[in-house]
Amino acid sequence: MYRTALEAPQGVWWKPAGPTEKIWVTIAFAWCMVLFAMMPIWHLRGAQNPSGIRHRVEPRAYSSRVYEFTQQYQVGTDNGVPLVEPPPGAHVYLQASMWAWTPVLRLREDTEYTLHLSSIDVNHGFSLFPLNVNFQVVPGYDYGLVVTPHSAGEFQIICNEFCGVGHHLMVGKVIVVPKQDQLAAVGEETR
Ligand code: CUA
Repeated sequence: MYRTALEAPQGVWWKPAGPTEKIWVTIAFAWCMVLFAMMPIWHLRGAQNPSGIRHRVEPRAYSSRVYEFTQQYQVGTDNGVPLVEPPPGAHVYLQASMWAWTPVLRLREDTEYTLHLSSIDVNHGFSLFPLNVNFQVVPGYDYGLVVTPHSAGEFQIICNEFCGVGHHLMVGKVIVVPKQDQLAAVGEETR
């Protein structure tokens, strides 16, 4: 007799799941629940959330804030880029643009700062080499991250979000002055 696919076959045409198959389905489901629970747990306990503030900002307004900050604390230049040394605890403004990070920052070891990050054009990625620090830098948003550099030296800021033909050239710099040098500098100032 001719049948169409719309008619259900008669009787039990499928094989019921065997015991081992049921065990695997149970394990897979339980593991899915574990992974699902890890998302909120990581968010709350993972210590990987931005530590500071976030608010909207006009790219032009951010750019002029960076300019103002640079004028206020500039101590020299580094390869043609302004070198800026803000005082401890200061709000530090770093600008991402195609394809540069401005200014070059000189910070002190074991000193807290609020590091503001924003882009004036497209999405960029803030990656501090060779440390494991990564952050999305989005135009229109000002991220103020509370940071305390714990290791001295020169660090490169690499852009880790593709942003056009000059992406690979987008390298900035953060210099962290070690503790003993800070004391020496204070000695010179008071002399
Ligand atoms: Cu900026 Cu890639």
